[in-house]
Amino acid sequence: PIAPLQDRFGRAIRYLRLSVTDRCDLRCNYCLPKGFSGYEEPTNWLSFDEMTRLVGLFAQAGVSRVRLTGGEPLLRHNLPELAARLSALPGVEDLSLSTNATQLVKHAVALKAAGVKRINVSLDSLDKGCVNTITGRDSFDAIMAGIMAGKAAGFDPIKLNMVAMRGVNEHEINRMVAFCLENGFILRLIEAMPMGSTGRNAQYLDLNPVREQLVAQFGLIPEVAELGGGPARYWQTADGSGRVGFITPISQHFCASCNRVRLAVDGTLYMCLGQEEKFEFAPLLRGGASDAEILTALKTAIELKPERHEFKEQPGKIIRFMSQTGG
Ligand code: GTP
Ligand code: 5AD
Ligand code: SF4
Repeated sequence: PIAPLQDRFGRAIRYLRLSVTDRCDLRCNYCLPKGFSGYEEPTNWLSFDEMTRLVGLFAQAGVSRVRLTGGEPLLRHNLPELAARLSALPGVEDLSLSTNATQLVKHAVALKAAGVKRINVSLDSLDKGCVNTITGRDSFDAIMAGIMAGKAAGFDPIKLNMVAMRGVNEHEINRMVAFCLENGFILRLIEAMPMGSTGRNAQYLDLNPVREQLVAQFGLIPEVAELGGGPARYWQTADGSGRVGFITPISQHFCASCNRVRLAVDGTLYMCLGQEEKFEFAPLLRGGASDAEILTALKTAIELKPERHEFKEQPGKIIRFMSQTGG
């Protein structure tokens, strides 16, 4: 493999999260700004040609994993076409998608054919009323149908992301674990990050006691193998047939092993989910920059990557919303 991009702290950057839209058909309060509306595509958004060129250059610089995010990525018109172009790029070995699954029935087969290898789906509860309340829409049936369509299309295993929130869905955690173990999904429990209007962090639930309880109840053991290259740490069942992941940005941050940066749909590269450092690529793409110039800019940008996020020390610091960078 190519010598990777390295930041000032010696971390190799191999994972790009590419937000293809900031629009979403759901209204999860931990993600979107209040009153957010509109589905039209602003003219300043990166085109598929621009994204493909830029991701190709990232891949030349050693990025091998690319995750399509949003908003809700399937709201970007013709997403499978973009996926096919990205998965065909030399060096892109792992193209994945994070979705809310409401549109997955329509697109699962095309995404699979386009070379998407892995799908992660947001699902915060198995209770229809609870999901509809959290998402602000009557979404539960479409989401469940989407997850099953993903499974039927051959995405295996699908990871289900559950943002665990105090007093909202914490009572659903055990049932969710049991459901995922039975149905071959990998559940990931996630601590809510204080971004945008979740800045006051009222819903934060420390996952350490939750993990202790689940370990005892389901007889889980820590897993050594890495699964997917993200920040999740996994525990598995004694027979190795099932696993549960924990993503704990607040109680135990994982920044020392961070391998990623995020490209927003307007061409802004964010160096860290929990910090403001950024670099604008649209002016280069649209100003006639050569590939060599963009590669140099990429190295300059990575130099800006901060050591870590500070959600715990400075909740409310990040006013940017999760929907802008897709988590
Ligand atoms: P895999 O490649 O399957 O491991 O994906 P992933 O877990 O990296 O991606 P996904 O989109 O499913 O994100 C799951 C959760 O992890 C979301 O809440 C993200 O916001 C969070 N997350 C992903 N990367 C980072 C990161 O670098 N820092 C922080 N703080 N959270 C992250
Ligand atoms: N904190 C933690 N996770 C979040 N997600 C969205 N907003 C937040 C937040 N404030 C998660 C969703 C989605 C993933 C991409 O990001 O669960 O699955
Ligand atoms: Fe990496 Fe920033 Fe995420 Fe920390 S918050 S793991 S430094 S991107």
